[in-house]
Amino acid sequence: VTIEAILLVGGAGTRLRPLTVHTPKPMLPVAGVPLVVHQLTRAREAGVDRLVLATSYRPEVFRRELGDGGVVGLEVEYVTEEVPLGTAGALRNVADRLTSAPDDPVWILNGDIISGHDMAAQLLLHQRTGAAVTLHLTEVADPRPFGVVPTDRDGRVSAFLEKTAEPAGNQINAGCYLFRREVLDRIPPGRPVSVERETFPHLLDAGAPVYGYLDDSYWLDLGTPAAFVAGSRDLVLGLAPSPALPGTPGPALVLPGASVAADATVDGGSCVGAGARVDPAAVVDGSVVFPDARIGRGAVVRHSAVGRGAVVGDGTRLDEVVVGDGARIGAGNELLAGLRVWPDAVIGDRAIRFSTDA
Ligand code: GDD
Ligand code: MG
Repeated sequence: VTIEAILLVGGAGTRLRPLTVHTPKPMLPVAGVPLVVHQLTRAREAGVDRLVLATSYRPEVFRRELGDGGVVGLEVEYVTEEVPLGTAGALRNVADRLTSAPDDPVWILNGDIISGHDMAAQLLLHQRTGAAVTLHLTEVADPRPFGVVPTDRDGRVSAFLEKTAEPAGNQINAGCYLFRREVLDRIPPGRPVSVERETFPHLLDAGAPVYGYLDDSYWLDLGTPAAFVAGSRDLVLGLAPSPALPGTPGPALVLPGASVAADATVDGGSCVGAGARVDPAAVVDGSVVFPDARIGRGAVVRHSAVGRGAVVGDGTRLDEVVVGDGARIGAGNELLAGLRVWPDAVIGDRAIRFSTDA
């Protein structure tokens, strides 16, 4: 039989702007390959053969990079929502592209997750319980930005509480589901529907069997700049597992075609993309340097992301900063603490500092 999956990739990635101005979040380079390539390679290893991408924001980038899916060993199809239909509306909108039978399990993946969980074990639980839906669950320190999902002793889901200020526990929806195919067909068509706010609560109200597969493997949602940088770092260091890592885990991943000066320091799980250049005496620590970017002589880049073709001037210091594609930051600047530089912005030499010393 053909195992099918739907990948939800229609979001605009607002919290990751300006990195997502040109590139949808799931296609941003993470440890040297697009984020979704890590997920899709794992899905293929878990037995998925065929994938439908539910796109909306910048769909052309997915088609251009993933083509017919051959690069990830999957058969890939694309569906585009002209107007975003929400997470469940997107599923309903692609349901008629599936070839699975009504009782077959279909994988649903959020497009911004790095996870090391055992998908085969999740599938076994789904089959053993005969669930309508089986969600991967994980525990996080701060559940407020997620869907909180309490379960009973047998793993049966008792409630679904999306983004609440006072969460009932730390167990959250990890964004990887198995749906019985006919459940997808019953989502109302032709209007926006949220799987988290409408479909899951309705299934629970109707008494449908919804189960949670809880584990404590590596898990991260890469939706914010800090998480994006951390996810890439953890993959490079080997803390997060991925069969798609283009190299061996270690302190740094320097892609073919990148150049790093002999006395520059690149470590802490940094990744330097193809065609990028790190000049002498520069320090790159725990950061993502996109393809064709340039880090100037003596610059210090920590816990930051430097967009495609962007330039960081000599001696400039970045810490927890996001630099958009093609931006040019002059020499001797000091940018810290969550600053976002928009694509193609130009910042002069010694124009911005946090500290007083010049
Ligand atoms: N096709 C389509 N259409 N995709 C969408 C739409 C839409 O209208 N809206 C969002 N998506 C996609 C995004 O591209 C992303 O891959 C995925 O759905 C989840 O959206 P996020 O914006 O990343 O949601 P979140 O992180 O705030 O919350 C979700 O994920 C958490 C786990 O990371 C929820 O499912 C939470 O319950 C969950 O805990
Ligand atoms: Mg997310």
